[in-house]
Amino acid sequence: MRRALVTGGAGFIGSHLTERLVAEGFEVRILDDFSSGRRGNLHEFRDAIELLEGDLRDSSLLARAVEGVEVVFHEAAVASVPTSVIEPERTNDVNLIGTLSLLEHARKAGVRRVVFAASSSAYGNAAVLPSVETLPPQPLSPYALQKVTGEQYCRLYTELYGLETVALRYFNVYGPRQDPESEYAAVIPRFIHASLERRPAQVYGDGEQTRDFIYVADVAEANLLAADSVAAVGKLVNIAGGRRISLNQLLTRLRELCGGNVQPVYQSARQGDVRDSHADTGLARELLGFDAQTPIETGLGLTLDHFRKVDAEGDTK
Ligand SMILES: NC(=O)c1ccc[n+]([C@@H]2O[C@H](COP(=O)([O-])OP(=O)(O)OC[C@H]3O[C@@H](n4cnc5c(N)ncnc54)[C@H](O)[C@@H]3O)[C@@H](O)[C@H]2O)c1
Repeated sequence: MRRALVTGGAGFIGSHLTERLVAEGFEVRILDDFSSGRRGNLHEFRDAIELLEGDLRDSSLLARAVEGVEVVFHEAAVASVPTSVIEPERTNDVNLIGTLSLLEHARKAGVRRVVFAASSSAYGNAAVLPSVETLPPQPLSPYALQKVTGEQYCRLYTELYGLETVALRYFNVYGPRQDPESEYAAVIPRFIHASLERRPAQVYGDGEQTRDFIYVADVAEANLLAADSVAAVGKLVNIAGGRRISLNQLLTRLRELCGGNVQPVYQSARQGDVRDSHADTGLARELLGFDAQTPIETGLGLTLDHFRKVDAEGDTK
């Protein structure tokens, strides 16, 4: 049986990836400190996985985590631009030093491949849209810089030590289990929550900023392809829907889907946020054979169903 480690496996993306790996017959171990991850995210497959609870920066725990593992999916991070602006040192410690430490432990343990969760924030306010992987990075926040440096470490570990790595630059991922309640929650769960609670939705900026959304199950699929693609070794690949929509358009779609009348309340733009984001997805197609399959209407519908169910159960944790 193939053994995989998912760091951050109790988080939004990590839990979907873990669920998919279990379904594919992998033996899955997760490492998570539950700083933003939730036990509830693991409910449906808890008995099928091994859980190591603790911090990625704990060297002895990391050594246990990578033991006997063939593929590591590195999702653990403080995944927030605003937090990184407030706490550059702590986030650097987790997002960059933690990634380096993971690569080093993986190399020593003879792991075959590490797939790294990188971020589209690397492009900053790119002058060229759609953004192609060859553009020079332009990080606008500590978080973006930490992720860009993590990508570079991945490439270096392939070149220096022969550890196979693939960095996946996720664009805006959305779907069930994404936390709508955190102070820094992503836009889709926030909008859905506002809509279900019949209150206005907070929009940072004028709402005309654009994002390239991708449904979480598609991201799990991209990870599976990245675990085995020969052509992708040492490479950096955009993972996105390949279309961009503005936040105002997103609200209109949600109104159509929910039948509600959620209204925006505009606030000043946040420091470190990019204006427009749109991926060139050609390399993902070429190296991974990957194309996102879930149209935004379908993904929003599935996400809405999830949050309605959670609301009805009165339990989000
Ligand atoms: N959600 C997106 O749109 C998006 C976009 C680009 C990149 N990413 C990246 O994808 C990955 C997953 O993001 P997510 O949205 O699922 O976030 P998330 O916060 O739900 O998941 C991160 C997980 O990592 C865990 N974690 C954090 N610090 C840890 C530490 N020191 N030790 C052990 N575990 C730790 C958290 O408890 C959580 O379970 C992150 O690396 C993030 O930067 C996400």
